[in-house]
Amino acid sequence: MNTGGILIAGPAAGALKGALMIPGDKSMSHRSVMLASLADGVTEIRGFLAGEDNVATAQMFMAMGVKIDWLKDDKTALRVHGVGLHGLKPAHSALNAGNAGTCVRLMTGILAGQAFESSVTGDASLCKRPMRRVVDPVRRMGATVTGAEGGDLLPLTIFGGKLKAIHHISEVASAQVKSCVLLAGLYAEGVTRVNEPKPTRDHTERMLPLFGQPVDVALDGTILLDPIGELTAPEHAIDIPADPSSACFFAVAAALVEGSDITLKSIGINARRDGWRRVMNDMGAQLSLENKTTVGEEPVADLRVQFGGLHGMRVNADDVPDAIDEFPVLFAAAALADGQFVLTDAAELRVKESDRIAAMAAALCSTGAQIDEQPDGAVIDGVGCLRGNVDVDAHGDHRIAMAMAVAAQRADGEVRIHNAAAIATSFPNFVPLAQSIGMNVRWAEEGA
Ligand code: S3P
Repeated sequence: MNTGGILIAGPAAGALKGALMIPGDKSMSHRSVMLASLADGVTEIRGFLAGEDNVATAQMFMAMGVKIDWLKDDKTALRVHGVGLHGLKPAHSALNAGNAGTCVRLMTGILAGQAFESSVTGDASLCKRPMRRVVDPVRRMGATVTGAEGGDLLPLTIFGGKLKAIHHISEVASAQVKSCVLLAGLYAEGVTRVNEPKPTRDHTERMLPLFGQPVDVALDGTILLDPIGELTAPEHAIDIPADPSSACFFAVAAALVEGSDITLKSIGINARRDGWRRVMNDMGAQLSLENKTTVGEEPVADLRVQFGGLHGMRVNADDVPDAIDEFPVLFAAAALADGQFVLTDAAELRVKESDRIAAMAAALCSTGAQIDEQPDGAVIDGVGCLRGNVDVDAHGDHRIAMAMAVAAQRADGEVRIHNAAAIATSFPNFVPLAQSIGMNVRWAEEGA
C-alpha cells in the first residue's frame, strides 16, 4: 500500500446536499469472492467493492488457480469460476493481503483446510497486527502454522489438510476470528462450534447458506457449522449492498454542517453493523430510514441525514462491536458535539489498521479538540469549531484519513491530512463522492 498522499480538507463552504450511491460492502465483498472461489460452478457478484483490500482477496484466489472475469472496467462486477472446496492449487509465491486484515484472517481458515503449504504476508501495518487469535484455533484444528513471534505476526506459513472440528470460545468479539474458524470448519471432521463474548457481524453465517452450506445459531448464541462437504454456486448473482461503514462518513459530515440534508441510498442496516446509527441517534442526530428492503440476505434502506445539534453521551459497551469501524468518525462527531462523549470497552481499536485511539486523539488534538485518551477508549469534550491551517497524520489508515476529512468541514481553515492514500483500500471514490455533496476536500501532491 502507498501510505503517501495528502488530503486537503475543510472548511465546508455551505450546506451538504444530495443523494449518494455508496460502493459495496467491504466485509461482504471479501466473503463473496472467497465462497464463490470454493464453490462448484460459476458465481456472478454485483456491487463488489473494488478497493485494494478486496482486489487483494480476488488476486489470492487467482494465484491459486481460480479464474475470475472482471465484468466491468471499474471492477464492481465479476464472474468467479469456482474450483470446489478441494480445487485450489498452491500459489507460486507468497500470497499478499496488502493492508487487509479481513483477507488474511479469513484466508488463514481457508488455507488451514488445504493439503499444501502456503505463505501469507501483508504490508507494514498488517505485519504488526495480532494473528494468534486465528492461528491458535486453526492449530487446534490440526493445521501447522509458523510465523514471527510464535505465529502471532505475518508472514505466516500454513500447512493444512485434515482438520478436526473444535468448539472455539473466542476471547475477542471478532467476526474475523469467528469467520476464520467457520471457514476452516468447512474442511473439518465433525461440527464446528464458535462462541463469542459479544455478537459480531454475521455476514459469513448469512452468506454460507446461499452456497448451500447451513449454519445454525443455538439459543445460547453458539454458532454451529456441520460441513456438508461442498459449496454450490448460487443460481442467482450475489448482490452486495452499499457499505454502512463508508456511508457513515457522510452521515456524520451532514450532521455537523449547518443546513445539510443528504440521502445515502440503499445502505446495509444489518443490526450487527448499525451501532454507529444507534450512537448517532443517542447523540441527537436527525436520521431517518426510508424504503426498507432486502438485498440477498441483508436488510438495506435509504438513510436521510439532516443537520442537527449533536450532544455527548456514554457509549453502551454492547454497541461497541456493532460500531467498531466507525469510531474514528464518531470521535470527529463527538469533538464537535455539545457536552461529553465517553467510550470504554473498545481496546480493540488499538490493533486496527493503526492504533485508532491514539491516531484520532493526536489528529483531533492538533485541531484544538479536547480528548482524554484512555487505554480502552476516550473521553471527548466537544468544542464549537476546530482549528484549521494544521497538519495531521492519518498513519496510512483509511478510516483516520476520512474521519479527519469530515472533522475538517467544521474547522476554521484547511486541514492537511498526510499519509492518506490508504483511502483506496476501502473507498477509492471517497473524494469525488464527498465533493458531489459539497464537502470541501481534495487531493494534493506531497510537498505541495
Ligand atoms: C471485519 C471485522 C472487524 C472489522 C473489519 C471487518 C470482517 O474486525 O473491524 O473492518 O469483515 O469480519 P474484527 O473481527 O477484528 O473486529
